[in-house]
Amino acid sequence: METIFSGIQPSGSLTLGNYLGAMKQFVELQEDYDCYFCIVDEHAITVPQERLKLRNNIRELAALHLASGIDHNKATLFIQSEVPAHTQLGWIMQTQSYIGELERMTQFKDKSAGKNAVSSALLTYPPLMAADILLYNTTLVPVGNDQTQHLELTRDLAERFNNKYNDIFTVPQIKVSEVGARIMSLQEPTKKMSKSDQNQKATIYMLDEPKRIEKKIKSAVTDSDGVVQFDKEKKPGVSNLMTILASCTNLTLDQIEEKYQGVGYGQFKQDVADAVVATLKPIQDRYHEIIDSQELDDILDHGAEKASRIANKTLAKAKKAMGLGRVKKRK
Ligand code: AMP
Ligand code: TRP
Repeated sequence: METIFSGIQPSGSLTLGNYLGAMKQFVELQEDYDCYFCIVDEHAITVPQERLKLRNNIRELAALHLASGIDHNKATLFIQSEVPAHTQLGWIMQTQSYIGELERMTQFKDKSAGKNAVSSALLTYPPLMAADILLYNTTLVPVGNDQTQHLELTRDLAERFNNKYNDIFTVPQIKVSEVGARIMSLQEPTKKMSKSDQNQKATIYMLDEPKRIEKKIKSAVTDSDGVVQFDKEKKPGVSNLMTILASCTNLTLDQIEEKYQGVGYGQFKQDVADAVVATLKPIQDRYHEIIDSQELDDILDHGAEKASRIANKTLAKAKKAMGLGRVKKRK
């Protein structure tokens, strides 16, 4: 069976973009693959975090995985900082990374632009991400398309290590999802919908109340054409709402265009809102059942144990290949 690894940062409340671009795929993938879903809290601290908020976000994110349909009997759900092998192999992968290639990463450039106190961990974030993936002999990594550059680098680092030392790592493939790969901000539809957007109206959170969802979608930026047509360049707002509707229903973009011919944006937006609410409401109900339960802790304990067993084996092989530590003498 092929192995999938994916990580989400607990750096804010999860958005509809996270759900449609990542989580929804995870739920389908667990049926056919050996899946590791990791809450990457060590990635989140590459930018400043408030400790209580971070702690809440970690738990919320774990509960949302389960509420979305991740089944702990099928997939391994765990918290990165509870499996020390991640930072240990992360260090080793740093030794294989060049400063130049790390400085070229767009996420680094975006997050460091205009700031004068940028942590060195923001630069060395991709080698840690490579470690996350390589520890589990991962064959496939499902991500939104903003992460493909990091994935290319992961592949390069794995190959570089394998060529220099020994064939230790499996070189993973990238799996970008098709529809819903990129959900955009409701207020600036040329920008991706993000957990960290300052403008609350721009983002639908997975835990937003139905009324709020409706309000946000109704005030989403569109255009003055009044035509429901997919054209990312000329009609980014409408195209984004169409992508959302397609992802929350079984409708294709063509079917949506046809259905809303001559109908106007009012009804269209109402239907988008209804579809999003119908998608998120059952998840929210389940979330409230488990967020404060011991069941959640048990699942995460079990996940960390299982992940550690696999990760420690890969780490030991990588250390040995490089000559770290000792070979014990027999008497
Ligand atoms: P992040 O929120 O940046 O930690 O991303 C977590 C996962 O969700 C990654 O796989 C991202 O590619 C995906 N993701 C985040 N925002 C969006 C978005 N607006 N549209 C689609 N996928 C997204
Ligand atoms: N860098 C990813 C993001 O910001 C999160 C991440 C960390 C990740 N490690 C990973 C994603 C490993 C996939 C695989 O979205």
